[in-house]
Amino acid sequence: MDKITHTNTPVLDNFWMPFTANRQFKAAPRLLAAAEGMYYTDVDGNKVLDGTAGLWCVNAGHGRKKITQAVERQLSTMDFAPTFQMGHPIAFDFAAKLAAHAPGGPKGGLDRVFFTGSGSESVDTALKIAIAYQRAIGQGTRTRIIGREKGYHGVGFGGISVGGLVNNRRVFPQIPADHMRHTLDVERNAFSKGLPAHGIELAEDLERLVALHGAETIAAVIVEPMSGSAGVILPPKGYLERLRAIADKYGILLIFDEVITGFGRLGTPFATDYFGVVPDLVTTAKGITNGTIPMGAVFASRKVYDGLMTGPENQIELFHGYTYSGHPVACAAGLATMEVYEEEGLLTRASELASDWENALHSLKGLPHVVDIRNLGLVGAIELAPRDGAPGTRAYDVFVDCFNKGLLIRVTGDIIALSPPLIIERAQIETIVSTIGDALKRAA
Ligand SMILES: Cc1ncc(COP(=O)(O)O)c(C=O)c1O
Repeated sequence: MDKITHTNTPVLDNFWMPFTANRQFKAAPRLLAAAEGMYYTDVDGNKVLDGTAGLWCVNAGHGRKKITQAVERQLSTMDFAPTFQMGHPIAFDFAAKLAAHAPGGPKGGLDRVFFTGSGSESVDTALKIAIAYQRAIGQGTRTRIIGREKGYHGVGFGGISVGGLVNNRRVFPQIPADHMRHTLDVERNAFSKGLPAHGIELAEDLERLVALHGAETIAAVIVEPMSGSAGVILPPKGYLERLRAIADKYGILLIFDEVITGFGRLGTPFATDYFGVVPDLVTTAKGITNGTIPMGAVFASRKVYDGLMTGPENQIELFHGYTYSGHPVACAAGLATMEVYEEEGLLTRASELASDWENALHSLKGLPHVVDIRNLGLVGAIELAPRDGAPGTRAYDVFVDCFNKGLLIRVTGDIIALSPPLIIERAQIETIVSTIGDALKRAA
């Protein structure tokens, strides 16, 4: 097929850009036009190394023929079909394929798959399943969900309620939720390599919230096993195990939000596998289709699924679903994506690169403004000291500088977050680190 060409000077007024300072961006836009492997090409023809896998989603790198061909084939065979009281084979095939790689492996039992269209939809779906499950087993007073400060669980009303990022919350009303403290502790854990040593006691916050609200009001607790969007916050050693134990003690479901950590980011198929802690529900999206077609999925344990498969057989068990749940084109993209991951060993490749990645990132210690460096699998964060009275501006300047030098990074506040495609080569790791290092030396 011919490549599509666009004008490189589009009218910028109409697209209301998400999570973007629209006026600032439109005054000096950064426009990407093509992508292949580890690189974007911008509208002026410059190559840009992708240090962020798009937006934590293009795990197998860009322009994968197997995926694009599967999408083309499916589009011309059957563009859309409903999944409400109807089905099509590819949705079942994809669910079975995902189940074969389910978080926690065959013993984990997380092999019942509910399809959504995004991470936000996966989160709201998981919260609703948790509440519905509790009611179905006679625990109907359990409607509260516990999240965590600095958590990011997308932008639905459920997701912002359990999320812990103030800018996403302050304007909007929320569902009943409460929050544990976050686990970022730069004072005690700065420059840890991998999991930080201090902070397991923060899991006891769940005990405190049970004492405050009563276990009989709490349906579930949701955490990102590793928080990405808030700036790469790692769980202290033993923390997730402790959380699992407390949740079990009180009949509270544990939900891992693996929208970022799913599909190989930490060097195992899921963070659930990395930590060996098995939750009751796992939310995913992003890497599920290598970012090509919007899609998400919730993995539910058999306990949760079977708990809801009760009542008369002609009764809908869960009044929930999306027009695009199990969209055939998304399923085709997902199936081909899983094949690429399998053929190239990408669900575990990050484990081979993790120590080189760690050493490369930590070589930036001592450069101007750097107050912490964090890493796990193929994720990294470089936290900068904020400028007096102008938080976020220093990292933003580094971001623009890196882009102009041919590297895409992501910044959140004054934290640089990195999550390259899992096909990255060692030389490209060096390029990422040296480009950031040079930008830090230039940064005021
Ligand atoms: C942990 C987590 N949950 C949910 C979401 C929301 O996903 P989406 O933007 O696809 O709605 C994200 C997005 O970055 C995420 O990182």
